Amino acid sequence: MTSTHNRVAVLHGVNFDVLERRDPALYGGLSLYELEARIGRWARELGLEPIFFQTNAEGELCEYLHRVPELADAAVLNAGAWTHYSRAVADAVAVAAVPTVEVHLSDVESREEWRRLSVFEGLVLAKIAGRGPDGYREALELLAGELGTGASR
Ligand code: DQA
Repeated sequence: MTSTHNRVAVLHGVNFDVLERRDPALYGGLSLYELEARIGRWARELGLEPIFFQTNAEGELCEYLHRVPELADAAVLNAGAWTHYSRAVADAVAVAAVPTVEVHLSDVESREEWRRLSVFEGLVLAKIAGRGPDGYREALELLAGELGTGASR
């Protein structure tokens, strides 16, 4: 049975609008449109209702996060480079106060040193990195379990 608390905001930050133009060795060559289509399919299989948002403007992401409690029951967040330095986005994640999983397509732990730091540490349920698009499926599975949609593994 599908729960009514099943809405998941899937949030992408800076430079994801040009995902297909970024290094395919790191990001897989998919467009954001293709990535969101996969995420949408996985979400619905798990009994979740996804909504999508992407912006290149830090303040817009903060403003969207302020509205998340009205729009969604949980969130998946790939904030891109903001992950590593935006205390403003981290504070907005705390304001959103819904179960949130941080996802990165690439393995941020094995890249440059500065990518190891995440300002979301302690605010998110989990951080999933280096699994490519499948990382989003894992994030959705975790959130489905958290929200009790009944379709999680
Ligand atoms: C990223 C990793 C970040 O370090 C980088 O700035 C990105 C993408 C990822 O999905 O691997 O923009 O979040």
